[in-house]
Amino acid sequence: METLILQPTKENYKLAATEIKNGGLVAFATETVYGLGADAFNKKAVEKIFLAKGRPNDNPLIVHFSDIADIEKAAILTPMAIKAAEFFMPGPLTIVLQKKENLPNAVTAGLNTVGVRIPSNKTAQEFIKECGTGIAAPSANTSTKPSPTKAIHVYDDLNGKIKYILDGGECEKGLESTILDLSSDKIRLLRQGAIPIEDLESVLGKIEIISKSEKPLSPGMKYRHYAPNAKIIVFNSGEKIKILNEYFKLKQKDTPIRVLGVWNNNQIKMLKEAGVDLKDFVLFCSDQDYAHNLYAELRQSDKLNTEIILCELVSNIGIGCALNNRIFKAAGQE
Ligand code: TXA
Ligand code: MG
Repeated sequence: METLILQPTKENYKLAATEIKNGGLVAFATETVYGLGADAFNKKAVEKIFLAKGRPNDNPLIVHFSDIADIEKAAILTPMAIKAAEFFMPGPLTIVLQKKENLPNAVTAGLNTVGVRIPSNKTAQEFIKECGTGIAAPSANTSTKPSPTKAIHVYDDLNGKIKYILDGGECEKGLESTILDLSSDKIRLLRQGAIPIEDLESVLGKIEIISKSEKPLSPGMKYRHYAPNAKIIVFNSGEKIKILNEYFKLKQKDTPIRVLGVWNNNQIKMLKEAGVDLKDFVLFCSDQDYAHNLYAELRQSDKLNTEIILCELVSNIGIGCALNNRIFKAAGQE
């Protein structure tokens, strides 16, 4: 089967929705990363997702809807869930709630809770509306690879395994949704993501952050993730001189190398004066820009046969928390 990349037109939404209704898989753009969708209420279709990705079947899927009212098809809404939904949905937030009986266990890997999310991206919205059902969808990458933020990334991983990819351009955020567990009376953060925890706390109150030593509550977090073939060396935010020293050391050995980080104009001037090869440097202008492009640049590094990537962290503020988390994970350090 040759995989087709579909432009987001009315006819193509219909085509994609028909594939879902027939129990097939369709990859689609969201504001975070591309998802690999199936009808959440069709057990056989959901099982195909695990096969296509090579995903362990103890790792549950998020169910996507186009409207808050539809969440009740799969989960039990609590007052706190309604508050979170009203403030942050549609948007890059997933909430974990008690699941309803009729949702197949294959979606939740046997858990009695389910993650639900309402994407704000237009392609995702139109597609889900056209399907008229909940769409179970993990990120549309092969397991352990960086999440896809462009249609071509999905194609590179899943060509021949699915019929359609709904192209919605580059994902605006570039990192996955933030996941909150609202299934008990506490609010717990299960995964850092595109909505900063500060924003969530300002509306919902104190959020409990699970320490690393505790059993991961989000099963997916125990697996190696977001990893390129290259080895990643992580540097603290601001360690520009240290990065440059390492760069020149590796350059002397002719190691294929790339450097990722946020650089301002003065620092770029310094780079030029130091005589680096600017082709080796991916210069982001902000943390948002870094988050938006991180996964794409990890994939690009593989295409260039990069052996070592020097990744500079950012401050742990706003989107920086999720970005640093993904850099550590890509480096295999978390
Ligand atoms: O932004 C996103 O969330 C993207 C787009 C496509 O929506 N999806 C995504 O899905 O990142 P995935 O499958 O790659 O990551 C979902 C994470 C996994 O770590 C999984 O273990 C966790 O959510 N999860 C899903 N259901 C859960 C549940 N009931 N309890 C705890 N964790 C859950
Ligand atoms: Mg994923």
